[in-house]
Order: sequence, then structure tokens, then C-alpha cells
Amino acid sequence: MTSRRHFTTQAAGALLASALPRLARADAKSFPFAEFEQRIARKDFRGITKDVLPTPCMVVDIDLFDKNLKTMAAYAKSVSINLRPHLKVHKSVDVAKRQVALGAIGVTTATIAESELMSNAGIKGVLWTKQPGGTNNLIRAINLTRRDPTFMFVIDDPVVVDNVEQAAAAGKVKCRVAVCVNAGLTRQGIENGKPALELAQRIHNSKHITLEGFMAYSGKASHTHGFETRRKQSETDLAGVNESVALAKKAGLPVNIISGGSTGTYNMDKQLGLTELECGSYVFMDSVYRKVGGKDNDHIYTDFENSMTVLVSVDSKRHAGQVTTDYGNKALARQTDEVKNKPWLKVDTQGAEYGLLRWSDSGGNEIKIGDRFDIFCSNLDMSTNCYDRYYIAKGDQIVDVWPIMGRSGAAQR
Ligand SMILES: Cc1ncc(COP(=O)(O)O)c(C=O)c1O
Repeated sequence: MTSRRHFTTQAAGALLASALPRLARADAKSFPFAEFEQRIARKDFRGITKDVLPTPCMVVDIDLFDKNLKTMAAYAKSVSINLRPHLKVHKSVDVAKRQVALGAIGVTTATIAESELMSNAGIKGVLWTKQPGGTNNLIRAINLTRRDPTFMFVIDDPVVVDNVEQAAAAGKVKCRVAVCVNAGLTRQGIENGKPALELAQRIHNSKHITLEGFMAYSGKASHTHGFETRRKQSETDLAGVNESVALAKKAGLPVNIISGGSTGTYNMDKQLGLTELECGSYVFMDSVYRKVGGKDNDHIYTDFENSMTVLVSVDSKRHAGQVTTDYGNKALARQTDEVKNKPWLKVDTQGAEYGLLRWSDSGGNEIKIGDRFDIFCSNLDMSTNCYDRYYIAKGDQIVDVWPIMGRSGAAQR
């Protein structure tokens, strides 16, 4: 029997629906927040389409994403170079597992927390591209080596070699280490040639460390505009690395890996001597990368698709030529972001929770309160760090949710 209370609620709902036809349509598909979260937790995505997602949020176009993964995997296979993709851009076990399923030999990480997360999730062949400079990281690197002997990290300083040797001896483990050499960036990497050789020898002679080879990340080359200019930059940046590798081989040292490379240089680094690629951004791409140009187009990099967008909503419209969105500073809005399929709209911010979309000529298009837009963010590493999940979409339908892990805060410690 229908109770009076139920009836009254239904009647009120019907009244609201007729008064607000646009909201009512959305309401037919949306849920109270708690139920939405329960549905997400159960992976029950019936009726969950992009238009009912809480914004701002990250949405991955699964078809474009799959295409990107397959393009990179096929390229690596075709030239016989290994792929150990960097996960700082996605921080997702789900993405990493898909990369491994397509042939990646492991993953590359920026932090010990990311390394632990991936290893604990069963990903083998984690390469941490920073050295354990402090005690906390050192002990964790030793402990992770004990749990997962496939874990590797890099060192660019003799002091760290000695610290690792001491800690590894005390912990009764043998660490796997690559020499981090300079490849154009001043942030890390020992000088190539004699200093790199001596560091490699010191590592090789350490009882509790195995020398794996070299790591040389050319971050300057990755975003150099124009294919030919980029190739030249990569060649310059990797020249010293090849010298160090040659010296090491001549001295009889093992060189199992020469790791480096990026999304921007993936199709040039094999010829320049790398044995494995650490590309990361290719999975989603961002608006800044999109502009570096490729082999066929000097202005737009079309090798990989922009498969991830931040979905944002219009909240207010009180001034000509602009609307306020929910995509502000806290959501990592940037002037270099782009609005998908709407080049006449410019992105800006108006505060922590307030974003701005501006235009000088809308070409007759009208923007209304409640409208939603897909934004290509400027820098994946930074943006990914502010969101806690990817909604995976097939067209407009949400088909999965992947958590973003190892972000700042508790997960990073
Ligand atoms: C050490 C290292 N390797 C590889 C990459 C991946 O580069 P990209 O995202 O340009 O492919 C990065 C990115 O910052 C990096 O720091």
C-alpha cells in the first residue's frame, strides 16, 4: 500500500519535475550522493552517464585510451625496444596492469610511495627513478627490495652508494641499481664519462648491490617543439650517456638496461642507444604536449590522442562574454588548458573553486547555466594529483571507475 508520506514525496517530486523540466530529466538518471557512491563501489553503472557525474572530475575515453596503449606497444614491438612506462602521469594500478598486459616489462616511478603501491599491486619490474637520499626512503627501498627482488632504483652519487651498501648489508638484501647519468637536466644525474664510470664501478664492487645499467631521462628533449629539432636535442642529451655506456662495457661492467625516453621522443630513442622507454604521457596526453608537433605535423602532435578530459560545469552567468565554472585553482585550471571541440572558449580561473570560460566571438553558440564542457588539462602529472578517480567512459556511458593512487597526502607518505 502506498503510504501518505510516500505519496506526498512523489507528488512533490512530480511538481518539481514539471517546474524544472531540464533538471527533471537529469534527475531521472541521477541518484542521491550516497547511492551514487554505493553504485560506484559495486561497479553498477546502469544509467550512469557523463551528465550525472559530480564535477569537476576526470573522464577517460576508453576507446582513445586503448588506441594510445596499443600504438605505443606496437611501436615498441616493431623496433624491439622495451617499454617500462612512467606512471606519474596516471598513478593508476588499472592503467599499469593494462600496459603490462600489452607487453610492458614493468613501470617507472617518481616516488618510493608509487613504487610500493605498484609492487604491492603485483606489478613486477618497478624502476624508481630517484635515489634514496634520506633515511626514510632508504629503509623503504631496502624493505621493498626484500619483498620484491625485481624492484630497481637509481643512484647518482657515491655517498648514496655507500649508504645503500650499508643498509642493504644490515637488511641482508641485494639491491638492483642503475647509474643515473646527466641527460640535459640539472635536477639529477652524474656527469658522463669518467665520473659515471667510477660510480658504476663502485656500485659493481659493492657486495650488496647489483649494477643493472644506466638511466638517462632527457626531459628537455621531450617537449622540444618540432620533430627534427627534438631529435637533435635528444641526440645531444644522450651523447654523453653513450660515452658512459661504452666506457662501462669496455671495463667489463654489466649494462643490462639503458633506460630513458619520453612520449615526445619515443620514436627516436632506440636509434640513440636506449634499450627501454619510460614514456608516460602517451596514455592520456595533455594540451601542452599536443603542441610539440610530430613527424607529420610540426604544430600538432597527433601520434597519440587526448583520451582524458576534465568534465566541468557552468555555475553562473552574470557577465557578457564569460561564464563561471566549477573548475578553479583547486581543480588545477590553467590558461593553457583547452576546451574540447570549442576553440573559441578560453580557460582561466577566478579563485580556488571558481573557474572561468571566456570568449570574444561565440559564433552564435549559447552557453547556459548547467552546461558541461570537456577540458584538456595542461599537465597530466599535476592535474592527476588533485583527483581521486577516473570515470571510464564508452561514449557517454560510464563503464568503470579506476582509483588514482599515491597522490599527495597520506598515500604519498
Ligand atoms: C624520469 C622520467 N622518465 C620518463 C618520464 C615520462 O615522460 P613523458 O610523460 O613525457 O612521456 C618522466 C616525466 O616527467 C620522467 O620524470
